[in-house]
Amino acid sequence: MKTVWIAGASRGLGAELARVASQQGHHVILSGRDTVALEAVRSALPHPEHATVLRADFTDESALLPLIDCVWFATGRLDVVYFCAGLAQWSDPLLTRNNVEAQLFAVNYRFPVQAAKELAPRMASQGSGHLVAIGSIAAEFGQPQSAAYGASKAALERHWEAFYAAWSPLGLKLQLVQPGVIGTSIMQSALDESGRPLGKAAKTHFGMDPAEMARRIFQASRSSRFKIRIVSPSERVALLLHRWMPTLFYTLLRKRHGTA
Ligand SMILES: NC(=O)c1ccc[n+]([C@@H]2O[C@H](COP(=O)([O-])OP(=O)(O)OC[C@H]3O[C@@H](n4cnc5c(N)ncnc54)[C@H](OP(=O)(O)O)[C@@H]3O)[C@@H](O)[C@H]2O)c1
Repeated sequence: MKTVWIAGASRGLGAELARVASQQGHHVILSGRDTVALEAVRSALPHPEHATVLRADFTDESALLPLIDCVWFATGRLDVVYFCAGLAQWSDPLLTRNNVEAQLFAVNYRFPVQAAKELAPRMASQGSGHLVAIGSIAAEFGQPQSAAYGASKAALERHWEAFYAAWSPLGLKLQLVQPGVIGTSIMQSALDESGRPLGKAAKTHFGMDPAEMARRIFQASRSSRFKIRIVSPSERVALLLHRWMPTLFYTLLRKRHGTA
C-alpha cells in the first residue's frame, strides 16, 4: 500500500484520481478548501477507511510548511503526489486585474512548485518519491480569455522540467501530465476580470469524462515517461497546427472566440 496525496481532491479530476488510487488499495490523502466536499469524496471511496482529509488553501504560503508536515505525518510516509488543484479564468486580458492573475499563479504554479521543493529532500531521504504535476495543453498556446491560466501552466511546465533534470539522480520520479479538455465544472469556479467566480454564467464545458481521464493518467503515471499528453484527435490536430502553422492557428482561434 502506497500513500498518495491528491492536492485538489474535492471534485473534478482530483476526486476521480482519488477513487482510482483507493481502488488500487492505496492510502489516499485528500486536500482542498471545501471540507464537506472532501468528506463526501472520502466516504464514497472504495476504501474510505484508508483515506485522510486534510483541509488546505494552497494560496496561503504561510500554511505550506505545516501542511507538508501534516501530510508527511498522516501516515509516516508519502510515496506519490498528484498536484491537481487548478484555477481557471474567462476574462479579457486587457481588463483582468493584477490580483486575479496573482491568484491563478498562486494555485496553478506557486503551490506545486513550492510544495515540491519542500517534499523533494524528504522523499530523497526516504529513498523514493513520485511527484506528478497536472498541467494542461493550455500551456502550449495563448487563448484570448485565458492568458494568465495558460501562462501559469507554461511556467509550471518549465519548472517541472528543471526539477526532472535536477532530481531524477536523487531517485525521485517526476512526471508532467498535459490533459486536453476534461468535462468537469472547472469553468464555474473560473474567475472573471474582477476575480468573481463565473458560476452559472460559465459556458458549458465539454471534454473527456473525468473518470476516464483519471484512469488514463493513473495508468500512464506507472510508465517511465516524463511528459504524458492525453488529448482528443481534434486537440492533437490543433496542437500540430499551432506548432507548424501558427498564423493559421491563431486566425482560426480568433474566429472561434469571435474576435476575428
Ligand atoms: N477541466 C479541464 O478542461 C482541464 C484541462 C486541462 C487541465 N486541467 C487541469 O486539471 C486539474 C483539475 O482540474 P478540474 O477540471 O478537475 O478542476 P475543478 O473541478 O475546478 O477542481 C479543482 C480542484 O482544485 C482545488 N482548488 C482550487 N483552488 C484551490 C485552493 N486555493 N486551495 C486548495 N485547493 C484548491 C478545488 O478544491 P476546493 O475548491 O475545495 O478548494 C478542486 O478540488 C487542474 O490543474 C486543471 O488546470 C483541467
